[in-house]
Amino acid sequence: MKTIVGTDILYAASLLRQEWIVGVPTETVYGLAANALSPAAVIKIFTAKNRPYFDPLIVHCISIDHIQPYVAAIPDWASTLGRLFSPGPITFLLPKKQSIPDIVTSGLPQVGIRIPSHTVIRELLSHLDFPLAAPSANPFGYISPTSAKHVFDQLEGKLPYILDGGESSVGVESTVVGEENGKLIIYRVGGVSIEEIESAMGKVEYRLSTSQPMSPGALDSHYAPKTPLHMFTDVNKLPHDNNIGLIMYMTLLEAFSESQQRVLTPSGDLKLAAQNLFKIMRELDGMGFDAIYAERVPQTGLGMAINDRLKRASINILSNEI
Ligand code: TXA
Ligand code: MG
Repeated sequence: MKTIVGTDILYAASLLRQEWIVGVPTETVYGLAANALSPAAVIKIFTAKNRPYFDPLIVHCISIDHIQPYVAAIPDWASTLGRLFSPGPITFLLPKKQSIPDIVTSGLPQVGIRIPSHTVIRELLSHLDFPLAAPSANPFGYISPTSAKHVFDQLEGKLPYILDGGESSVGVESTVVGEENGKLIIYRVGGVSIEEIESAMGKVEYRLSTSQPMSPGALDSHYAPKTPLHMFTDVNKLPHDNNIGLIMYMTLLEAFSESQQRVLTPSGDLKLAAQNLFKIMRELDGMGFDAIYAERVPQTGLGMAINDRLKRASINILSNEI
């Protein structure tokens, strides 16, 4: 199949109506979208990504006012967080109605609902009378794409069209929030920080990393480049080797050549670091290094999501943190 990259929203809408899959921009990362109400369309997402069927998909809607046909209830916590952070990088796990096919939720009783803020996917949704199921548009287990080119490079030939909406402004996936026994649980840290959620809701619990995840994005090994990646805190422990790539938080290291290093955020603004993270990981992954070493960033705000993604990218390695 020939894959075209373009900006024709109406064409993308017509493909989606015909049960094709389409690459779509969102403010977090690019998604691989299909009609969420059509099992035949949704199967194509799993096939193109090589994604296991036990990993459920997020359903994207244009507004909280449009989710009623798909969810059995909208609890108070979801209305509150929805008012504060939607449209935006947050996903709510809510009890699903029959209208959402089981393949979307992997048979789970809850559906992940997200209201994206990117203007292109919002315009696309406004032309459709169904919501869009969309995981990140990367092969299963690899780094999420933050540009149309990233999607093309990895999924060319597996989909007819990629809608180009520029670079994703948030750069890490949405925060996934749900409720268990009346308690708010964070299943994935992402574009809305824990501090922001806690300032509205009080203390929340985390259920981030487990080998039997509620949220398989919480699978230990995920978001990984092909080059082995290590996290580090102490620069003195780095091996002095020309053939390693370095992802630095704010400043380059003098002991290494500039060409082997990338800085996430010269000013220390963690939003910028999140925006740059996956692009830099991909770039270094393509440079043929024996290993990549990534500096841990401060564990506040979006720093939590950044450290989480770096940790998951490094998980296959025996001694992954120095
Ligand atoms: O920012 C994002 O969330 C992006 C953009 C495209 O919206 N999407 C994304 O989708 O990251 P994906 O499939 O790569 O990750 C979605 C996460 C997974 O960890 C999945 O397991 C979890 O959300 N999830 C989705 N539906 C769920 C459900 N019904 N129950 C539990 N976890 C769910
Ligand atoms: Mg993903």
